Amino acid sequence: MRLDVFLTPGEVTPGEIAGRTVIVLDVLRATSTIVEALAAGAKAIYPVASIEDAIRLANSLGREEVLLCGERRCLPIEGFDLGNSPREFTPDRVAGKTLVMSTTNGTHAMMLAAGASRVLIGSLLNLDAVVEDLATSEAEPAFICAGRERFFAMEDAVCAGAMASRLMESRPGDWALNDGARAAIALQESFGTGEEMFTSIGAGKLLLAAGLEGDLAICADRNRHPLVPVLHERLIVLPVALRPAIERAG
Ligand code: MLT
Repeated sequence: MRLDVFLTPGEVTPGEIAGRTVIVLDVLRATSTIVEALAAGAKAIYPVASIEDAIRLANSLGREEVLLCGERRCLPIEGFDLGNSPREFTPDRVAGKTLVMSTTNGTHAMMLAAGASRVLIGSLLNLDAVVEDLATSEAEPAFICAGRERFFAMEDAVCAGAMASRLMESRPGDWALNDGARAAIALQESFGTGEEMFTSIGAGKLLLAAGLEGDLAICADRNRHPLVPVLHERLIVLPVALRPAIERAG
C-alpha cells in the first residue's frame, strides 16, 4: 500500500496521482478556511487560480448568492467580500452562500489534483475525520502540500506527517512510503503541530507581521470540525451526510 507526501507542488506529476485519493493541505490558511466555512454552513466553494477568473466566475453565478474570498500576500483582495482568515467565515456571513476563492498557494495546489479519483481537503481542523475516511475507504493516499510561493512550508508537512502516522496506526499494513512521507512523519514527531510551532515558521511569521495572529490558534485547533470536504468537478462540497446541523435544521 502506497502512501506518498509531495512536500512541494513542483513534485506533483499527473502520473503520480492519477486514479488515487489526494489530500490537499494548506494549513495556513486556505484548507483550514474551507473547513471552517463549510462547518459554518457555506453551500460550496469554487477554488480558482487567478483573481480575474474568480471575479468572472462570481459574476456569471450571480453576485447575490456568491461571496468572493481569498488573499494575496496574506491580505484580503480589494473588492472581495472576505479575506482568507477562517475567523471571518461565520454562519451569519457564509451560511447558504457559494464562495469563489482565490489564494496564493492553496487554490493552485487544488488545481494540481486534477486526474485523481478523489480529492479531499485536509487541515488540522479535520485531521481525524480525514484519517478515518482514508482508513475506511482503503485509499492509497497522496498528500499534496501547498507550500508557500511554491516552496516548502513546515505547517503543511507536519500536518501530512500527523495524518500519515495516524493512518498507519489505524490501518496497519505493508505501507510503502516515499521520501516525502518519511520526512513529514519525522518532522511532525520533532516539531508537533501546535500554535507555538506556527510562530517560528515562515507563514506564521508573515501572519503575525500582518496582525493576523488570531489565525494561528484556529488553524492549529485539531479536530475542530469532523468534516471531510471533497473537491469534485471544480466544486468543493460536503458529502450530504456530513452537512452541518445548521443546514439540516433548515
Ligand atoms: C494560502 O492560503 O494560499 C496561503 O497559503 C497564504 C494565506 O492564506 O495567507
